[in-house]
Amino acid sequence: MVDVSELKTVEHDVLIIGAGGAGLRAAIECANAGLDTAVLTKSLLGKAHTVMAEGGMAAAMGNVDPRDNWKVHFRDTMRGGKFLNQWRMAELHAKQAPDRVRELEEWGAVFDRTPDGLINQRNFGGHRYPRLAHVGDRTGLELIRTLQDHSVHQGRIEVYMECKALRLLKDGDRIAGCVAVWRETGRFMVVRAKAVIMATGGGGRAWRVTSNSWEYTGDGLTMAYDAGAELMDVEFTQFHPTGMVWPPSVRGTLVTEGVRGEGGILKNNKGERFMFRYIPERFAPETADTEEEAARWLAGDKNARRPPELLTRDVVARAIKAEVEAGRGSPHGGAFLDIASQRPAEYIKRKLPSMYHQFKELAELDITKEPMEVGPTLHYFMGGIRVDPDTQASTTVPGLFACGEAAAGLHGANRLGGNSLSDLIVFGRLAGLGAAEYVKGLDGLPAVDEEQVKAAIRWATDFLNRESGENPYVIHEDLQEMMQAKVGIIRNATELAEAIERIAELRKRAEQAKAHAASQYNPGWHEAMDLHSLLTTAEAVTRAALMREESRGAHTREDFEGEREEWGKVNIVIRKAEDGSMEVRKVERGEPPEELAKIAFATIEDLEAGRV
Ligand code: FUM
Repeated sequence: MVDVSELKTVEHDVLIIGAGGAGLRAAIECANAGLDTAVLTKSLLGKAHTVMAEGGMAAAMGNVDPRDNWKVHFRDTMRGGKFLNQWRMAELHAKQAPDRVRELEEWGAVFDRTPDGLINQRNFGGHRYPRLAHVGDRTGLELIRTLQDHSVHQGRIEVYMECKALRLLKDGDRIAGCVAVWRETGRFMVVRAKAVIMATGGGGRAWRVTSNSWEYTGDGLTMAYDAGAELMDVEFTQFHPTGMVWPPSVRGTLVTEGVRGEGGILKNNKGERFMFRYIPERFAPETADTEEEAARWLAGDKNARRPPELLTRDVVARAIKAEVEAGRGSPHGGAFLDIASQRPAEYIKRKLPSMYHQFKELAELDITKEPMEVGPTLHYFMGGIRVDPDTQASTTVPGLFACGEAAAGLHGANRLGGNSLSDLIVFGRLAGLGAAEYVKGLDGLPAVDEEQVKAAIRWATDFLNRESGENPYVIHEDLQEMMQAKVGIIRNATELAEAIERIAELRKRAEQAKAHAASQYNPGWHEAMDLHSLLTTAEAVTRAALMREESRGAHTREDFEGEREEWGKVNIVIRKAEDGSMEVRKVERGEPPEELAKIAFATIEDLEAGRV
């Protein structure tokens, strides 16, 4: 029997769950507002998927090409997201990203420089102009380092590290904090808080081939969903086109899009630069369709159109898959990514130092001399917790906020590379401001319901206490194999329906899993607990994917080819029904704001000439 009064209990104004870029940026804003702020992470500080956004953060500063501005960035983001993005979020992001990047610089971020000493910006897929502020190919790491320096290391926020949040607590409808467990000691803790900001990223670990590290089990989405929040757009899971495919032990590890941004090209086993064959009509006017024009772009001709390797990620990932299926893949089932033939060795080592070392150390390959073998890897969730664009407040649970990958709305059906880091800093800040405003309106801490605490602890300890049960790692592996096979880049109704059945079976097995040994230092126990989040997010993705009967962005249905007009008018929203089942519904998007629609659908000539 759990005696709640015996548990360690801490109190804060705001609790942020997740210590990646979004969580830390939100924490800074809360601390700036004078709130007692805590960050809780199941991992170590400094180790978040944020570091996997290597190539840069997108912000229309116009340092490299003065034609860039927020309108072009907004237009690129909406086109990349196949117009399913939340218009207001795309607007806020494009307008505010430059200030957030400059703010990072003030806080000590060391960006690469142009010859004139400005923050340098590089090309990336789907961005019309060089737009990604970067630090070689370790931009995410620099972002985390800077935010930590500016907050944690100044003693402005409390950090609970290696501490896993299990369940959100509620006082009536509103948030009251969470129950958490320390990984080292296995002891439970109650965190009382007036507001909780979810900054937990996505759930890529439900797939076998993923760039995501062990933390990405969909915890934030699941805790929010269990507490009554809505999820949105979760059918859109991004397969980054270039993960390592060899050796098997590192399959899925990210190969930054920065390689293509710096001029890397994709080839098949016949030596053909195949992307010229996969240019979608919508992007044709802005994409080079000959090797000659692509070569002029590489040489710096600003009037040459971008090469097809810089098409959006959904397009490039599908193209690689098609080449492999046509028997034109590389020896280990991918494509060849070649920068060696495009840039001098010294340039490659300077601009892509991490990639150089990654391939040297993990694949014994010198990327300044040989092409890399790459293939699609599950990288990112475009969907997440449904929020109000300006405050990042959950649409249904007062006191709950979400930002970064855990929130839905900015990216629509497909995210542009580099828009994730700028998303974190723009919406991390807005979530902090939103939470601060909410907290101001409360008198004291919401009450904690002891029964909710006991239920969470009973659920967690059952994995340890039952006599026998299945190994949770085996269940996780079965889930990964199944999601890879049935909810991959190309989907169909039969496989998605099978996947839903398999998830239900896996859930039954997971509920009876057994974690051997004690609660201290027991990763198997945490694996057993993570299964609930993995299965909930996998189910949400699969149900939404089955409902969306069209192909749009990162969601491709072989039984419903192409975009369908009627599906462009709705987002898919998921919520836990009264009976505990998953309710999936279409929500009308309404008419876009006139001014923004003009920009999104304008020709680039009209935008550049200032006619829009
Ligand atoms: O390829 C990359 O460097 C990843 C960037 C991103 O996901 O934004």
